[in-house]
Amino acid sequence: MLVLPLFSGSCKNYPEYMSQVLTNTSPGLSNAWHPVLHVSDLGNEPVRVELLGEPWVVTRLNGDITAFLDKCPHRNARLSEGKVVNNSLQCPYHGWEFDGTGRCGFIPALGKDATIPPTAHLQARHVQVMYDHIWICVGTPACDILDVPEWTDSSLAHVWMPAVDLKASAAQFMDNFLDFGHFPFVHAGTFGSGEDEHIVDYEVQRSDNGYGFRVDYPHTIENNEDPLVKTGEHPLVQPRNMTYVYGAPFTTILRLELPLTGVVNAILTFVQPINDNHSRLYTVMLRNDCPTPELAQEAIDYEFAVLQEDIKIIDYLYDHKIPLEAGQAHTRADKNTIEFRRIMTKLLLTAKG
Ligand code: FES
Ligand SMILES: [Fe+2]
Repeated sequence: MLVLPLFSGSCKNYPEYMSQVLTNTSPGLSNAWHPVLHVSDLGNEPVRVELLGEPWVVTRLNGDITAFLDKCPHRNARLSEGKVVNNSLQCPYHGWEFDGTGRCGFIPALGKDATIPPTAHLQARHVQVMYDHIWICVGTPACDILDVPEWTDSSLAHVWMPAVDLKASAAQFMDNFLDFGHFPFVHAGTFGSGEDEHIVDYEVQRSDNGYGFRVDYPHTIENNEDPLVKTGEHPLVQPRNMTYVYGAPFTTILRLELPLTGVVNAILTFVQPINDNHSRLYTVMLRNDCPTPELAQEAIDYEFAVLQEDIKIIDYLYDHKIPLEAGQAHTRADKNTIEFRRIMTKLLLTAKG
């Protein structure tokens, strides 16, 4: 087997690259967007979420969604235990009030016209709603959230999977999701048994912003979801066009098209790096073959069986780190996950600048 050094010839571009290890709390991840909550789970009360090993409080203030570190600058109380008063977030401990920009506008113990010390304010973090979820960037965004045209394609139904908690890093899940050399082994119980073990050479096309890529990989699978296989009208092994579009740090859409049946299933997945040992996975299937709730449930059950096969592997990896230096063997079949490591290296270096 040919074993390639990671990023052969490109290390010069990343002089600090040799010391990088990617975990859910790597500082460079602060400069990226992360999903933290389904938008319908935020009502009128503040909600505590965990991201990058830190607690954050998410609130609606004056119609806008805001995010702050869940730590009052006075005596470190959890702001998420407070409430919304006067369009401000009120700390539960001594009643300080913070507006949507993080400015502390009222300290009850000092009275109405008191001078507020500059250290009393909170730092507001970047917030946006995308794909029905609240995303936050606690630093300076290095790139946008991946744009997914399928999201607004009216021919595709949105079939959500339940959010899944993982005992692995977000990068380890993404690494698995992008990888297609594991299909015949890990997914032998679902779609993988008809897959070729041999990975034909393929291209990785970098995106213009340098924080994403696309891979097209036509191949064949056993299509157990096709009802015409049982009647003998279609063969079990069918051609499938597979396209991955990845955007940093942990968002990918995997578009699967089966020309024989006309089925399109675009699996959009994004991962929340919670802390060093946990992540949360959000998945929606954008499909043209699920017009009824029963068919949608069937699709969820099948995809969940596929996911369980992946979880059995990634929840039990050696540790929760991805070394970006020497320490993992790579082959030409791993081109896309090598590109993933290159992009993550670049993102991690934003913390040094
Ligand atoms: S700890 Fe928040 S107001 Fe005192
Ligand atoms: Fe898999």
